[in-house]
Amino acid sequence: VKSIEESVVTAMDGSDKELFPFLPYILQDVWEIGAEPAVIIGLVRKHATDYSGLRILDLGCGKGAISIKLAKEFNCSCFGIDAITEFIAEANSKAAEFDVAHRCRFEIGDIRESVKTLPRFDIIILGAIGPVLGDYYATLTTLSKCLTPDGMLIVDDGYIEDESQYIHPLIQKKETVLQQVAAAGMTVIDEVIIQKDTIKESDDYIFERLQKRCLELIAKHPDKKELFEDYIQRQTDENDILETKIVCATIVIRRNNHE
Ligand SMILES: C[S@@+](CC[C@H](N)C(=O)[O-])C[C@H]1O[C@@H](n2cnc3c(N)ncnc32)[C@H](O)[C@@H]1O
Repeated sequence: VKSIEESVVTAMDGSDKELFPFLPYILQDVWEIGAEPAVIIGLVRKHATDYSGLRILDLGCGKGAISIKLAKEFNCSCFGIDAITEFIAEANSKAAEFDVAHRCRFEIGDIRESVKTLPRFDIIILGAIGPVLGDYYATLTTLSKCLTPDGMLIVDDGYIEDESQYIHPLIQKKETVLQQVAAAGMTVIDEVIIQKDTIKESDDYIFERLQKRCLELIAKHPDKKELFEDYIQRQTDENDILETKIVCATIVIRRNNHE
């Protein structure tokens, strides 16, 4: 079982848990650090009803950008959990800034533990967190207990096209994803593929800011030069994977027997 530091660093495409305490500094200039809020808003509008009554769970919510924009758009209620204290603090201040503090709650926690005791939600969002809760089968069977009977999951993730020769330790082929969703008694009911130029624009925006902060950290902690240089390199590699090797998509998953 991974420590919380390893879980978080892996989800942020790092390789060394020593990076954990530096992540808030490295990512201080970026609010939207994962999935595209506009795409998720579009999917909620298309597949949900009674928008203001929705209760949304945002697991690995980062700095809360998705939940805050959903609450602003639909006046729904959102609950976000993330392991990084500074991210949760920023989520709370951004919620106040967007006038949705009364509709959003953000808490520090390890989502692998939190999911064991959470009540049911109408929508569960997994925004660019990767396989923190295991593969699709493990994730969906675990989250089923936190989902209302007609509820849906919105998952922003990458997959490898079935014809591709590419392999990656954390990314599945599309057919594997679909098989595991089916084995969990669920179906992918919709999918928005994120366009390559959109991905590149967002990657470049984040990379420029993150690299600048890593270079500052190298100057400040010369003994940790390798740690930060390795992170910059891994970000470059990961962006290449996202832009050229895999498909990035936001999918909507529902139980087969929903109303
Ligand atoms: C790439 S960010 C995505 C943030 C947000 N979902 C978004 O799309 O903007 C991944 C997030 O997952 C969180 N995370 C990873 N493992 C976690 C765990 N076990 N418990 C809580 N949060 C976790 C990280 O702290 C990080 O904020």
